[in-house]
Amino acid sequence: MKKVLVLPGDGIGPEVVAETVRVLECLRDECGLAVEMEFGLIGGAAYDVHGQPLPEDTLKLAKEADAVLLGAVGGRQWETLPIALRPEKALLGLRAAMGVFANLRPAVLYPQLAGASTLRPEIVAGLDIMIVRELVGGIYFGEPRGVRTLKTGERQGFNTLVYSESEIERIAVRAFEIARTRAHRVCSVDKANVLEATELWRDVVTQVAARYPDVAISHMYVDNAAMQLVRAPKQFDVVVTTNMFGDILSDAAAMLTGSIGMLPSASLNESDRGLYEPIHGSAPDIAGKGIANPLATILSAAMMLRYSFHEPLLAARVEAAVSKVLDDGLRTADIQESGFPVVGTGAMGEAVVAALRATHS
Ligand code: IPM
Ligand code: MG
Repeated sequence: MKKVLVLPGDGIGPEVVAETVRVLECLRDECGLAVEMEFGLIGGAAYDVHGQPLPEDTLKLAKEADAVLLGAVGGRQWETLPIALRPEKALLGLRAAMGVFANLRPAVLYPQLAGASTLRPEIVAGLDIMIVRELVGGIYFGEPRGVRTLKTGERQGFNTLVYSESEIERIAVRAFEIARTRAHRVCSVDKANVLEATELWRDVVTQVAARYPDVAISHMYVDNAAMQLVRAPKQFDVVVTTNMFGDILSDAAAMLTGSIGMLPSASLNESDRGLYEPIHGSAPDIAGKGIANPLATILSAAMMLRYSFHEPLLAARVEAAVSKVLDDGLRTADIQESGFPVVGTGAMGEAVVAALRATHS
């Protein structure tokens, strides 16, 4: 029996998670997936009840679970809280507590949505990139950090970019292993011409690459990588990079597909326990309206099936169901196209469940 902790969170989180729970229930009831779900609070929703965004209860449940399904955290009403109490801090705390160092962010262009990208169709058609972002180290977590007051009375902010060899090695190994299931190419992104920590990054990735002679390795500076992503994105297969560079590049890669509402993510620890979330965030402007796209969260559940539960057939079935509803012309507002009726969150979720049933029988 697999245990999933469901953390709907804030904004559109609860709406998109509800549809994903229906998908998991359908797999449980009709496809024999042995799964049980528990629910918990995180982010602003947790702060409002417990006075903190990552309550002990939630942490405990997360550590006991095989996987965590998270909606999104954050919203305007919590933006003025001190950093330690902000919803985003809960996300970082949960990642660190679960030890999910490998963040997989696929940027895949669905052929049905080719018109949604701001780039010309021939630049992005067939796009399939996997960004492997280091998630629990680097400048996000490095010490010392803070804001201090100098003798002159001027304030100075400081953070530390720090990576040890073992941290670099384990994320590199993940990237090479994933490349073996894809097009056998890894591009490691760093700023080795300026930052010593990423000079070491390049060094360790090169050593790991020697153990994977069947995978082609290349190295790129992050500024060039940002340019190449929008110039000729199809040159990339797997991109492996640091926490902060991965944060930035994955948003750029997401936009290549034109539909941030479609993109899932998985964050894995050493033993494949994982945290699964859509990459789009809480979108407070459209929360509560029933118009958010649930497909990124549903596709995150598919990644859960693949990476934490080792059920590639069920994962593929969920992905096929998503593809089917797009073929059928269903579009939420974010992927709206002329000639297609716009459906809400619930109708989209229902359609995926129906498509799933149809492929099962
Ligand atoms: C992401 C987000 C988070 C990050 C924020 C919300 C802390 O931007 O998951 O990419 O920077 O990691
Ligand atoms: Mg980000």
